[in-house]
Amino acid sequence: MFTKIIATGSYVPERLVTNDELAGMMETSDEWIRTRTGIRERHLFEDPSAAVGAEAEGTTVSSACIAGERAIHMAEEKGLQRSEIGLCIVATCTPDAVFPATACAVADRLGLSAPAAFDLSLACTGFLAAFNTAAIYLSSGMYKNALIIGVDVMSKLLDMSDRSTSILFGDGAGALVLTSDTRFREGSDSGVLKALLRTDGSRGGVLSCRSAYLNGPEASAMHMDGRAVFEFAVREVPRLITELLDGQPEPELYILHQANYRILEAVAKRLRQPMDRFPHNIERYANTTAATIPLLLDELMREGRLHDGDTTVMAGFGAGLSLGGVLLRL
Ligand code: ACO
Repeated sequence: MFTKIIATGSYVPERLVTNDELAGMMETSDEWIRTRTGIRERHLFEDPSAAVGAEAEGTTVSSACIAGERAIHMAEEKGLQRSEIGLCIVATCTPDAVFPATACAVADRLGLSAPAAFDLSLACTGFLAAFNTAAIYLSSGMYKNALIIGVDVMSKLLDMSDRSTSILFGDGAGALVLTSDTRFREGSDSGVLKALLRTDGSRGGVLSCRSAYLNGPEASAMHMDGRAVFEFAVREVPRLITELLDGQPEPELYILHQANYRILEAVAKRLRQPMDRFPHNIERYANTTAATIPLLLDELMREGRLHDGDTTVMAGFGAGLSLGGVLLRL
C-alpha cells in the first residue's frame, strides 16, 4: 500500500541551556554529560506553568501547533490542501490538560476540518505508536492524509535538583504529513514494509512518573533506573531491527530515538553498521521524548537526505518498557 511522508516540520523553544549552565545549578559538568550521553545543549521553556503570549493556552499545544503548521506549509507547497487532512494524532506524555486531548486543540488551531483527532501516550515510543497507527488507518482506506505530531515539554516534569535525570531531557515538537494519495506517487513505491510494537509492563517501574494532579503533589518526580533503560535499549533495539529487516537488504538510514549517543553507538556496533547510517541530533536537543524522531526527520528532510526509494528503519524505546519500529520505503 502506497504511504509516503510528504512533509515535515519541527519546533524547539528559543531558550538554549548548555551543559555549563546546568553545571552552575547542580553538581555536574559539561565533561560528564558529554561523555556519558553525547548531549551538549538542549532547549527548555523557562517556566512552562507560566506560559504567556502565543503559549498562553499551554506549551504543549503551542509547540505542537508550530511544528504542525510548518509541516502543513511544506505539504501545501507540494499540492496537498489542509482540508484534505482527515486524521490528526499527537504523541505526548506531557499534555497541557488531562482532557481534552492535545490533538483536538491542535486540529482546531491548525484549521483542519472535522478530523479524527486523538492523543497517544507511550513516552519515548509514542511517536512510533502514532506513526504505525496512522499508517494502518491510511492503508485501510479510511483516511488519505494524516498529520502526526510528537511533542513533549519535559521541563514540566524535570526536577532540577536531580542531576541523574534533569540533564537528559529537552523540550520540542516534530510533525509530519503522511499521505496514501497516489497523486504523490512520483514513480517511487513508498510504503510501510513492516511495523512492530512491543511492551513489557512488568518493567514499568524502571522508568515512571506519576501525575501530581491525579496522585497528589508527592507523586510527580520522575523515577529512572538509567542503567536498566540503557541495557534494555542496547539489547532489544538491535533485536527489533533484525526482526523488522528479516532478510531484507540493509536500509540506508537508521533513525533511532535520541536518548543517548552511546546507545546509538552500541546499537550500530551490534548491527555491524557504520555510524554514518545513524543520523543524530541529540547533541543539540537532548532527549525530547516523543519528539526526537520527527525532529530528526524534519532536519533530514530539509537537508535533502531523505531520498525517494531509499529504505529506512525507525525505532523508539522507553517507558513501558516499550519498543516500536517500522521499516519504511521513502
Ligand atoms: N553529573 C555527574 N555525575 C552524575 C550525574 C551527573 N549529571 N548523574 C549521575 N551521576 C553519577 C551517579 O551518581 C554515579 O555516581 P556513583 O558511582 O558515585 O554512584 C555515577 O555518576 C555513574 O552513574 P551511572 O548511572 O553508572 O552512569 P551511566 O554511565 O549509566 O550513565 C545515564 C547514566 C546517562 C543516565 C545512562 O544510564 C543512560 O543514558 N541511560 C538511558 C536513559 C534513557 O534512555 N532514558 C530514556 C528516558 S525516555 C522515556 O521514556 C521518558
